[in-house]
Amino acid sequence: MRSKIVAGNWKMNNDQAETSNLIDALKAHGDFGTTRVIIAPSFVNLAQAVTLTADSGIEVAAQNMHEATSGAYTGEVSPAMLSSVGIQTVILGHSERRAYFGENDATLAKKVTNAFDHDIDVVFCFGEELEDRKSDNHFNVVKSQIANALFALPAAAWFKIVLAYEPVWAIGTGETASPEQAQEMHAFIRGLVQDQYDAVLADDVSILYGGSVKPGNAQEIFSKQDVDGGLIGGAALSAADFTTIIKSI
Ligand code: PGA
Repeated sequence: MRSKIVAGNWKMNNDQAETSNLIDALKAHGDFGTTRVIIAPSFVNLAQAVTLTADSGIEVAAQNMHEATSGAYTGEVSPAMLSSVGIQTVILGHSERRAYFGENDATLAKKVTNAFDHDIDVVFCFGEELEDRKSDNHFNVVKSQIANALFALPAAAWFKIVLAYEPVWAIGTGETASPEQAQEMHAFIRGLVQDQYDAVLADDVSILYGGSVKPGNAQEIFSKQDVDGGLIGGAALSAADFTTIIKSI
C-alpha cells in the first residue's frame, strides 16, 4: 500500500554505542504519526537495533544481503540470517553497491527474488549517473534498471516493494534533484509500472527520492505528488536533522 516513508541509510557509520545513542534520540522525538520511519544500520548492529526499537514504531532494515540462501560465500549475509534477527526489510541496488561491489541488474534480480522467498520487503534503489542526465539518457537508464531487476516479478510481489529513485550525481554531493526533476522522474516511473502491470498497482507503489535530502529542502521535494518520501544518507546520522525531515512530510 502506498504510504509516506522516510528511511535512513546509515551506510558504514555508527558503532554499537552510536547506534544506541541515535536510536534513543529518535525515540525521544516521539510519535511520527502515519509516516513509516525506517533506519538501516550496519549488519553487526541490526539485532541490537531491532531490540532497541521494539514497540517504538521505528522499523529496521538491512543495507544489503546476498543473493544465495546459504553456502560458501565468505563475508556475506543471507536473507534467512536477516529474518532470524527480526529484519523484515532490505535495501537493494544502492548505487554504492553497484559502483563499488559490482552489483548489476542480474544479481539484483536474484537478490530481490531471494528476499521475497524469505518474506523480506525490498527498498529497491536505482538512478542515473551525471553523464546520463547530461546526455538526456536518464529515463532510459532508470527504465532498464527497473525493468531488468523487477519486471519479471508477478504483480502480487509488488506489495512488498518500495522504489527509491536516487540520481547518483545527487548522493552525498550536496546537490539535489530539483523538486520538479524528482516529480518528473517519479511520474515517469509510475507510468512504467502502469504499462507493465496496471494503474492500481502503479498508484499503490511508494516511490522515495534520495540524494542530499536535508532539513532545508525536504518539505519542497516531499510536497510533489509522486514523491512518497525519502531515502536519507548523511542527514540520517543526526537525530535532529532526520526528525525534521520526517516531520516535513
Ligand atoms: P545522501 O545519501 O542523503 O547522503 O545524499 C542518500 C543515499 O545514499 O541513500
